Amino acid sequence: MRLSRLPPTVLLCAASLFVLFSLPFSLSANTSVYYYLEVYYKVLSPLGVPQQVITVNGTIPGPLINTTTNWDVVINVLNDLNEPLLLTWDGMQHRRNSWQDGVLGTNCPIPPGWNWTYQFQAKDQIGSFFYFPSLGLQRAAGGFGSITVNNRNTVPVPFAQPDGDFTIFIGDWYTKNHTDLRKLLDEGKDLGIPDGVLINGKGPYRYNSTLVPEPLDYETINVEPGKAYRIRVHNIGTSTSLNFRIQNHNLLLVEAEGTYTIQQNFTNLDVHVGQSYSFLVTMDQNASTDYYIVASGRFVNESDEPAWARVTGVAILHYSNSKGAASGPLPDPPNDIYYTSYSMNQAKTIKMNTSAGAARPNPQGSFHYGSINVTHTYLISSVPPLYINDKRRSTLNGISFIPPETPLRLADLHELKGVYALDFPSRPKNREPRLGRSAINASYKGFIEIVFQNNDTKIHTYHLDGYAFFVVGMDYGEWSKSNRASYNKWDAISRTTTQVYPGAWTAVLVSLDNVGIWNLRSENLDRWYLGEEVYVRVADPGGYNRTEMMVPDNVLYCGLLSALQRAQTPHTRSSASSLRVLMNLNFATILVLVLFAIIP
Ligand SMILES: *[C@@H]1O[C@H](CO)[C@@H](O)[C@H](O)[C@H]1NC(C)=O
Ligand SMILES: *[C@@H]1O[C@H](CO)[C@@H](O)[C@H](O)[C@H]1NC(C)=O
Ligand SMILES: *[C@@H]1O[C@H](CO)[C@@H](O)[C@H](O)[C@H]1NC(C)=O
Ligand SMILES: *[C@@H]1O[C@H](CO)[C@@H](O)[C@H](O)[C@H]1NC(C)=O
Ligand SMILES: *[C@@H]1O[C@H](CO)[C@@H](O)[C@H](O)[C@H]1NC(C)=O
Ligand SMILES: *[C@@H]1O[C@H](CO)[C@@H](O)[C@H](O)[C@H]1NC(C)=O
Ligand SMILES: *[C@@H]1O[C@H](CO)[C@@H](O)[C@H](O)[C@H]1NC(C)=O
Ligand SMILES: *[C@@H]1O[C@H](CO)[C@@H](O)[C@H](O)[C@H]1NC(C)=O
Ligand SMILES: *[C@@H]1O[C@H](CO)[C@@H](O)[C@H](O)[C@H]1NC(C)=O
Ligand SMILES: *[C@@H]1O[C@H](CO)[C@@H](O)[C@H](O)[C@H]1NC(C)=O
Ligand SMILES: *[C@@H]1O[C@H](CO)[C@@H](O)[C@H](O)[C@H]1NC(C)=O
Ligand SMILES: *[C@@H]1O[C@H](CO)[C@@H](O)[C@H](O)[C@H]1NC(C)=O
Repeated sequence: MRLSRLPPTVLLCAASLFVLFSLPFSLSANTSVYYYLEVYYKVLSPLGVPQQVITVNGTIPGPLINTTTNWDVVINVLNDLNEPLLLTWDGMQHRRNSWQDGVLGTNCPIPPGWNWTYQFQAKDQIGSFFYFPSLGLQRAAGGFGSITVNNRNTVPVPFAQPDGDFTIFIGDWYTKNHTDLRKLLDEGKDLGIPDGVLINGKGPYRYNSTLVPEPLDYETINVEPGKAYRIRVHNIGTSTSLNFRIQNHNLLLVEAEGTYTIQQNFTNLDVHVGQSYSFLVTMDQNASTDYYIVASGRFVNESDEPAWARVTGVAILHYSNSKGAASGPLPDPPNDIYYTSYSMNQAKTIKMNTSAGAARPNPQGSFHYGSINVTHTYLISSVPPLYINDKRRSTLNGISFIPPETPLRLADLHELKGVYALDFPSRPKNREPRLGRSAINASYKGFIEIVFQNNDTKIHTYHLDGYAFFVVGMDYGEWSKSNRASYNKWDAISRTTTQVYPGAWTAVLVSLDNVGIWNLRSENLDRWYLGEEVYVRVADPGGYNRTEMMVPDNVLYCGLLSALQRAQTPHTRSSASSLRVLMNLNFATILVLVLFAIIP
């Protein structure tokens, strides 16, 4: 029978069904979530000074990406900035799929006016993570938002269902925009003392009329008395470690970057740049007033540098039966300026709950990392910024990484030589510091030890994409093999970002079970910008398109491969709006439209 003989309604119906079934995920057993994010500038005044900030859909923080273990996440990102953009999904492991990682070693940047669709699974993961723009200090201007990966229903959570869920982004903030901040670093200057701390993109509550001369828009968390809430806290700042606390309330720690912790109460906790925690907070106070939520600069001496006093974020916890505004002094920070043992000891008490299931139903501690032999040790050292070819740069093991024009992973796929070298030294060498694109050649299925030695004067945090690592030890002084005896081989926290105190070391163990090319970086934005990063290449002997996922169809090409890139018609938000309408059509709407078309 010829198609043209069929009545038009049948044809329409068949065509619609075909369209529906060919939609990649909507009808498969695994659910998917779709997001459309528009990244664009806006003038906002979080600290009372108008400045050009980067928003996602018009706000800082941008929309929440809310998903569940193993669901597909499809995120179409429109770059409506005047410069290239990549969003990276901090803490998402992108198993076998570094194509979606959103850093220059794996992805070409999305040109201004273009959109690009990320697609990944939060495979065997749960917890609290975030996204941010990974290029050239853009994060200092905003562009971030949270990612929540929920448990599948079959996997129990080791605490009662909270009555609500809040995300709190804390971070130091400059009133200079990211291009001005970049200029400072390019000129060999420091960024200096930040102008404040934002909480969820907002300035401090006016707790002190000298420090906060003008009333500013501040964040309020509205709660009901007697209820318990999960509060997810991320430090999204540039370089300041922050002490987080809520006046008169205990913070019951339950999760650190995707791992359930042994539950313990803190009155305050240090959250270093790039780190995330979940607390359960019970509203057990009498609401005689509102309560302060504070994030204040850490390891700074305010008498020495009075400007640090303004590096304090203050939000308000408001009970529905509150009898008045918060007033009086802020709750005290730990009294240990220049004495970081308090902070380090606090960090050492954060341990994995080995009996709780994580993403899978088996207990988190069932992977006995402590009894696995280490296959290779990398001692990675940082020192204060130094001059290389008259440029002030930052290094790891004496090498300052220069951002590649062609992503390392694409260079490998196309067998291009000379883009980078697999020559990152396993320990600091007594050589002249140099610029380079140097990567670590790591073996798939290896089990490596990385010791970060901080010979800088500032605290650092390090993050490895694609993995979580066991933070088995940290201490002051120079690391040596004898320190291994002190490692926690049983319930060390498995997380994605660890702090390394100045004059101290932190040791982590990593099971190299995820093929790809993965960014290992300082989360301190200025140091990262100045070259403190390296890539870890975990090539699979089985080969591409066996263990590792195929390059996505929509891959962008640049650098040596730019000839392969097809042009895209640039969009702005207004011209994208018709696309948006199409994107927003959900299943129900399509059905309604189809029915409408069928009914004569
Ligand atoms: C759902 O996802 C799981 C884990 O990635 C995979 O093993 C399974 O094949 C998927 N099922 C379908 C129907 O796509
Ligand atoms: C972002 O904004 C666009 C345009 O208004 C809208 O279509 C989209 O749904 C928004 N995304 C989210 C996650 O809110
Ligand atoms: C996130 O998704 C979960 C599960 O799908 C849902 O229960 C929850 O209400 C969502 N949270 C938000 C803030 O949308
Ligand atoms: C850009 O967005 C359009 C409309 O949503 C979509 O069809 C297209 O695949 C996107 N382009 C890329 C490269 O992701
Ligand atoms: C940042 O501010 C400077 C002026 O201080 C201005 O020239 C520049 O265009 C701004 N950058 C952006 C991205 O708006
Ligand atoms: C406000 O802060 C200033 C500067 O730190 C301090 O001198 C003053 O005592 C504070 N005022 C109050 C009421 O706490
Ligand atoms: C934490 O503090 C709360 C009171 O705020 C208390 O009810 C709870 O028992 C404490 N939990 C632990 C594990 O100490
Ligand atoms: C509420 O608690 C505060 C601080 O603990 C206390 O000073 C006050 O007397 C209490 N008020 C009531 C009405 O119980
Ligand atoms: C903080 O700075 C002041 C002024 O320089 C100094 O007197 C004080 O000893 C410093 N405090 C600490 C703990 O080093
Ligand atoms: C680890 O190494 C030791 C000494 O080389 C060896 O005896 C032991 O069998 C190894 N353990 C495993 C699990 O491979
Ligand atoms: C780090 O500092 C220690 C102690 O000052 C010194 O012995 C060591 O050589 C330094 N290491 C590097 C790589 O600079
Ligand atoms: C990927 O591997 C599968 C299974 O070996 C094979 O059928 C397919 O053709 C391969 N695809 C490409 C593009 O190499």
